Amino acid sequence: MVRIATRHSALEEVAADLVAVGLFEGEQPPAPLMEVAGDALSSGDFSGKRGETTLLYTRDAVSSPRLLLLGLGDRAAFTTERLRCAAGTVVRRARSAKLQSVAFALPASEGFSVREAAQAAAEGAALGLYRFTSYKTDTGNSNTYELESLDLILAEGTDESEASRGAEVGAAMAAGANLARSLANEPSNTATPEYLARQAREIAARHGMDVEILDRSGIEAADLVGLAAVGRSSANEPRFIVLEHRGGGDESPVVLVGKAVTFDSGGISIKPSAGMEDMKFDMSGGAAVLGAMETIGTLGLAVNVVALVPATENLPGGSAFKPGDVLRMGSGKTVEILSTDAEGRLILADALTYARRYDPAAVIDCATLTGACIVALGHHASGLMGNDEDLISEVQFAGERAGERAWHLPLFEEYTEQIKGDTADIKNTGGRYGGALTAGAFLKEFAAYPWAHLDVAGTAFGKKGNPYTPKGATGTPARSLVEFLIGRAGGNE
Ligand code: BES
Ligand code: MN
Ligand code: ZN
Repeated sequence: MVRIATRHSALEEVAADLVAVGLFEGEQPPAPLMEVAGDALSSGDFSGKRGETTLLYTRDAVSSPRLLLLGLGDRAAFTTERLRCAAGTVVRRARSAKLQSVAFALPASEGFSVREAAQAAAEGAALGLYRFTSYKTDTGNSNTYELESLDLILAEGTDESEASRGAEVGAAMAAGANLARSLANEPSNTATPEYLARQAREIAARHGMDVEILDRSGIEAADLVGLAAVGRSSANEPRFIVLEHRGGGDESPVVLVGKAVTFDSGGISIKPSAGMEDMKFDMSGGAAVLGAMETIGTLGLAVNVVALVPATENLPGGSAFKPGDVLRMGSGKTVEILSTDAEGRLILADALTYARRYDPAAVIDCATLTGACIVALGHHASGLMGNDEDLISEVQFAGERAGERAWHLPLFEEYTEQIKGDTADIKNTGGRYGGALTAGAFLKEFAAYPWAHLDVAGTAFGKKGNPYTPKGATGTPARSLVEFLIGRAGGNE
């Protein structure tokens, strides 16, 4: 894990293997660096376009042997998200050269504070260095090499303690999101429901949280009917994970719910085989909730948080639940199964019902719930729905802060009409159109408190990364959930 620190220094005196300096379009670095950078700028080889990089060797003109110029684009359009990307670019460049130490001149902007800047830079760096290499057997040093240190260099007059707290928060955010990524990247022959339960126990032990794990008989006894049905035909038995962080006295908790289908074959309504391997990621919501809890524990947030993670496989088999079956849910509602591939909403419904016992201040669930949400928003935003406009805005804002966009989609009563049942109260699919919204409408039937739902089917994993996100699991929305809770804690993280 890279060590991240903040300090004041003149850039020409920093003795790291590489000094990286971000430049906005048309701007120049501080005068002492011009001896090294001057030609690259005057020749027009480097113009400051966003993402552009030029590596220069300094030949003793300054203390560091290498200077990396990094384009930050238009100054007026600079955001913490762009800073996250810039930091990711810097550390990846350092990694490809197998360097030990990097210094990055922390870019400032009028749009955000030093603390926010340091947080974004630390996040981008620690997220950008993440790789999932557990199953690479290459014995060369490419798997053992790690960047040792990143120093964020502060301009004169910058508040050190603000910056260092920001960097600390950013590192904790990234560690939680990276945990979420690893849980989600882990294949389903390893990442079983019991494996996730074990991870929850470890998070609890690290941070002094309470944890309770229900096994199959506990799940049945607690009336978690959907989870029992979906998990019925799998040899890797289901688990219901309850993890509690107490930092807020006797306030009502925020409950985080995460779908953890460790493999979604579709069950009897089996999916086509092409691309089915991606359904190991169908526990990304649960992974994000566990990752968020890791960060919450590290930061010791002054809020009460309960994490509920229903974990199961969805497989066909002799004892599998079937289309046409009717489930009498714990809340009393009856559900007719039209597709066993609409399993996520069934296990989420159980968790939403279970959440009532906490008299929660708010409940946020996150789930790779529908392919329809990917059709609607592509891979560029999570679908955001709910029953409380204020809560929805709060979640959307948290997502913006995290660089994990969420977009509000409607839950008009017509979508609820679409899932009205013939045999039972409701059915678990609503037909071809508006699939993300009928899924949201289904969940709404079980939410008896302020509730928001994030459909992360398009954002939790992908084939295309960015400078701080490799292919595979992204960790979304772990950081959004923590930003939300930092907000609830009064910004006092
Ligand atoms: N896990 C899937 C949704 C999904 C699809 C996530 C692609 C990520 C990528 C979910 O359980 C599912 O199968 N949903 C069905 C619902 C349908 C049967 C109403 C879907 O979206 O097709
Ligand atoms: Mn499914
Ligand atoms: Zn699923």
